[in-house]
Amino acid sequence: MRSFSYYSPTKIIFGEGAQHKTAENIRQFGGSRVLIVYGGKSAKKSGLLDEVKKNLEQAGIACAEIGGVQPNPRLSLVRKGIALAREFGADMILAVGGGSVIDSAKAIAHGTANPETDVWDFWAGKAKLEKSLPVASVLTISAAGSETSDSAVITNDEVEPQLKRGLNTPFNRPVFAIMNPELTYTLPDWQIAAGVTDIMLHTLERYFAAVTGNCLTDEFAEGLLRNMIKFGPIALQNSHDYDAMSEIMWSGSVSHIGLTGLGSASAKGKEGDWACHQLGHELSGKYDVTHGASLASVWGAWARYVCGANPDRFAQLGRKVFHLSGETVEEIAEAAIDKMVGFFASLGMPTGLKALVGHTLSEKELDELADACSFGRTRTIGNFRELDREDIRAIYAAANC
Ligand code: NZQ
Ligand code: ZN
Repeated sequence: MRSFSYYSPTKIIFGEGAQHKTAENIRQFGGSRVLIVYGGKSAKKSGLLDEVKKNLEQAGIACAEIGGVQPNPRLSLVRKGIALAREFGADMILAVGGGSVIDSAKAIAHGTANPETDVWDFWAGKAKLEKSLPVASVLTISAAGSETSDSAVITNDEVEPQLKRGLNTPFNRPVFAIMNPELTYTLPDWQIAAGVTDIMLHTLERYFAAVTGNCLTDEFAEGLLRNMIKFGPIALQNSHDYDAMSEIMWSGSVSHIGLTGLGSASAKGKEGDWACHQLGHELSGKYDVTHGASLASVWGAWARYVCGANPDRFAQLGRKVFHLSGETVEEIAEAAIDKMVGFFASLGMPTGLKALVGHTLSEKELDELADACSFGRTRTIGNFRELDREDIRAIYAAANC
């Protein structure tokens, strides 16, 4: 096991009725003037937003609100949130929603606490984040894991083409997360499936690390993947199944809390691989597609491209997650990839780019994606196997069906 430091400070309040504990937790973490951030309509329609506001009001906590966060959350709305938070004098940002709302809340917190810096500079790597406001969430979709993660992904809609970029910092760790699985009962099938896919990818991206063979961490990862394969289809049959929605909700946090990759960092200290997320972010930025779906559309092509770097690892996935056996390592590895891709397809996820964006990509589009993903040939992605611009293009091309 490699050396690691583990930091996961988010308090989890899990279970039925958990949203009624929002105010007491805001108080516990020092909030008294709270900006509530929410999405398009689901939190309003379900009555959750009113419930949360009432809970705060009864506790004497002042609040302002900003709605309208879109999936692949936009920088322009973040800027509006920052202006409002400053004017209101917010001392905490509360997200009521999913990854897009939570990531927007994180960005609003950073921008509010740093009026001298353009908030995008933190994402562009031009400024270093050294302070922020506390962020918390009432989670309504199990997927991104932003409720506990150190990451926030924002789409810059002020440039053409739009750029979707992530920022990792301890200041992104929310102080608490309210997680009531019942709040996810209203999710459409597409979002349940995309969420399950994203949760699995957060584990798979860590599982395919350059340095492997860490038994406890592997067991966490393999158990989580088996859990999703079991409960994903149950949730799709009945989104009101409390057990299935609970398992998916908790798996969503555990998958992105670091546990499924601990001690597996590479010699360079990088945890996991993350190539599929980078490939997916370019697709979401350019075509505004659902994050989980973008991952499903490239995973198979990525896996087949990199498998030769360590077929044993793919074979272990096959044995431990899909209970496969076979004559050779290569045979089991290949079958494991087919099984995983087949599972994503069974959820209704696209397993190629045509199904993802609605057309076969032109050579020009493939070039643009590869240029963008390699930051104009200035970076490589991946860790299990390092991928340069030509590798990236080859994977997009292999997924282009
Ligand atoms: O806007 P509303 O009306 O709320 O609808 C949302 C949205 O359309 C809907 N929804 C959410 N909860 C619902 C609901 N509909 C009915 N009932 C509910 N209870 O679901 C749609 C998707 O919401 P979104 O917040 O976009 O989903 P998700 O949690 O998958 O977040 C995706 C974003 O998170 C980023 C992704 O790139 C993407 O931008 N990620 C963030 C990460 C992080 N911060 O750690 C890690 C991930 O890898 C990911 O990159
Ligand atoms: Zn993800």
